[in-house]
Amino acid sequence: MKPVKVGLLGLGTVGTGVVRIIEGHHEDLQSQVGSPISIHKILVRDKSKGRSIAVDPAKLTDDPWEIVRDPEIDVLVEVMGGISGTKEIILEALERGKHIVTANKDLMALHGPELLAKAHEKGCDILYEASVAGGIPIIRTLIEGFSSDRITKIMGIVNGTTNYILTKMSQEGAAYEDVLKEAQTLGYAESDPTSDVEGLDAARKMTILATIGFRANIALEDVDVKGISAVSQQDIWYAKSLGYVVKLLGIAERQDDYISVSVQPTFVKQSHPIAAVNGVYNAVYVHGEAVGETMFYGPGAGQMPTAISVVADLVAVIKNWKLGVNGRQASISYKEKKLKSDRQIASKYFMLLHVEDRAGVLMQIAQVFSECDVSIESVMQPPTPNRKGAELIIITHEASKESMNHVLKAFGSLSTVQQIQSMYRVEG
Ligand code: NAP
Ligand code: HSE
Repeated sequence: MKPVKVGLLGLGTVGTGVVRIIEGHHEDLQSQVGSPISIHKILVRDKSKGRSIAVDPAKLTDDPWEIVRDPEIDVLVEVMGGISGTKEIILEALERGKHIVTANKDLMALHGPELLAKAHEKGCDILYEASVAGGIPIIRTLIEGFSSDRITKIMGIVNGTTNYILTKMSQEGAAYEDVLKEAQTLGYAESDPTSDVEGLDAARKMTILATIGFRANIALEDVDVKGISAVSQQDIWYAKSLGYVVKLLGIAERQDDYISVSVQPTFVKQSHPIAAVNGVYNAVYVHGEAVGETMFYGPGAGQMPTAISVVADLVAVIKNWKLGVNGRQASISYKEKKLKSDRQIASKYFMLLHVEDRAGVLMQIAQVFSECDVSIESVMQPPTPNRKGAELIIITHEASKESMNHVLKAFGSLSTVQQIQSMYRVEG
């Protein structure tokens, strides 16, 4: 039986897992696809580097074009990361009729539509299950499982690193920098962890999920992004005492065909199922008009969970190949993109204000909310004996983003408001 020959681009955290799964599960994989799977060549940056698995040194190369141009290679598995150089390699491989499996959300969020169109033109598959939420098969679920429904909301904890950090800060009172270092050591964080903590990694994943879920080409620029670097222990403490947890949530919503997508630290009601998702675990909550509420949960990063999704895509490519249907995926984004304006985006909000502690201040604050058409759900002013001034905790009823921007502007010019310490969206 002729083996399917794979060119593996990258032998880092994920690439090593891919080798482990292909070698360790070879009998099961062969039974499913009807051919052995053989890793023919492996791209690395440094051929002399020590590896945690034994690989035949003759298979290693530091020249991507050696793999792309090898006529014997049928499928490229891209787990090297990177954007423009990687895109060039993948386009050339597609041009040569090779199928692609990738875990690269940066690439798919920025150039997905172009790469998918090229794959379609060349009769090739490009599958990217591992690019979002590591070990959770959410892309296949959205494309196939929800093909007959109309999705109205996708809400996800899609970055393992930030969920790990927020969980440790919340449960153990750990310091942000210490936990970030731990996440890096464990292989969860990106090579530049700024993209994790500033929300960009999650925004890229939400771009992919919203495009698939709402069947419209959402661009990264359409996502409103805020990371977790400003979340303080005080915010976490207030969240807890009010019955919430702080999570970095990606929220994609559709109403009357108008879409909004954001990534932001959010106060999530402790009773909401997504509030219980801790550590490096990810979850994606999907609401469909017909199905109602669903949630998918699992490890969002790490070697073996991510490798499982990569190799599952490889299996799908080979099965398609045997059936002669590569490159025949139906279009996933056939709808016109219409984005919500700030007036159409609505939510409840939490606000922590430092204000002067004297008669009439609370009335001024309430006046601003009233003038901006924002209704207050609850107000709390805990005693603060050790500081000059008062702390005001406000939770609003549902208000538009536009109205909240007016509130922020008005507070900015109110001398009695010393500082707007934090403001978070509230869910659940
Ligand atoms: P990694 O540990 O940094 O590994 C990258 C691998 O690619 C290394 O083997 C490196 O070679 C090789 N490489 C990178 N650039 C290269 C270049 N220009 N030329 C030749 N070789 C190059 O990365 P990773 O964590 O496995 O992530 C890989 C991809 O999967 C990324 O797109 C990432 O976003 C995605 N992903 C990762 C996870 C996760 O949990 N880590 C989860 C989901 C998706 P050397 O070994 O010689 O340095
Ligand atoms: N850095 C990413 C995370 C890896 O923490 O979720 C998985 O994409």
